[in-house]
Amino acid sequence: MSEPRHQASDRIWGGDIPSRTGRQSSAELRQIAANLRQAGCVFAEDEAGLLLAEGFTPAELDAMVARRVSGEPLEHILGWAEFCGLKIMVEPGVFVPRRRTEFVVDQVVTLMRPGAVVVDLCCGSGAISAALLVRVPEVELYAADIDPVAVRCARRNIGDRGTVCQGDLYAALPAEVAGRVDLVVCNAPYVPTEAIAFMPAEARLHEPRVALDGGRDGLDIQRRVIAEAPDWLLPGSHLLIETSRAQASSTVATLRRAGLSATVAHSDDLDATVAIGRNPGRSPRP
Ligand SMILES: C[S@@+](CC[C@H](N)C(=O)[O-])C[C@H]1O[C@@H](n2cnc3c(N)ncnc32)[C@H](O)[C@@H]1O
Repeated sequence: MSEPRHQASDRIWGGDIPSRTGRQSSAELRQIAANLRQAGCVFAEDEAGLLLAEGFTPAELDAMVARRVSGEPLEHILGWAEFCGLKIMVEPGVFVPRRRTEFVVDQVVTLMRPGAVVVDLCCGSGAISAALLVRVPEVELYAADIDPVAVRCARRNIGDRGTVCQGDLYAALPAEVAGRVDLVVCNAPYVPTEAIAFMPAEARLHEPRVALDGGRDGLDIQRRVIAEAPDWLLPGSHLLIETSRAQASSTVATLRRAGLSATVAHSDDLDATVAIGRNPGRSPRP
């Protein structure tokens, strides 16, 4: 079982995480942690604490621990994942936002200003959008995904602060957005098809194939996102795509072929890589 994709944290927004102190017996915590450790959970104590803190009844707690022991992602069991200090609602069947994607958010925020038109393609649970809206609330935000479960989660996480659309990449967006966009951010599936077999079971068995499979070299969806970007972006505006260190040069070459200038930002701490494309020309916005 791989490590959890979030951690117990005091910096979660939303405020409805019960305190872990005084609500649970340490014997109960030790017993649950022992069960989880035996099943291969690396951070068994943390996970036990998070499950206990949810305030489940004893019967519910047994069922939750059994689900975790059988390999279901902790986030699907809890119903939320931590992302950028937010509690992002995730239903079973939706991609669990990864900590490395917080680096994408940081990169987008440096280019975002109030009033910007922002598009989050392949939005999944809407984690990127929700985090961006906290950092720069006064934007016109559109998020889109092809998967109805993802769209349902994104609507819950974004609420009325943005428009969430269902469909295939840009085709999901209102036509009038074309040519008005300041920023497109996209964390598309980028795992090469053959590499999916080597992913942790939590991802392979519990996240939808459409969220993982990027085709033969992993870049099929990215190529489509990049090829159509010039029709949607204002002059001088940006397209940011999460990629991997190994795939970054291909993502950059694809951006350049589409007529965008391109750079790469990388975080060693998060093992995160973002390709940043800029549409040529001067932005008409001040
Ligand atoms: C790797 S997940 C990322 C989700 C989210 N952006 C995040 O970082 O947590 C990729 C997402 O792309 C969506 N997706 C795949 N193909 C798509 C397409 N053709 N059009 C729109 N969304 C697509 C999947 O449903 C999935 O939610």
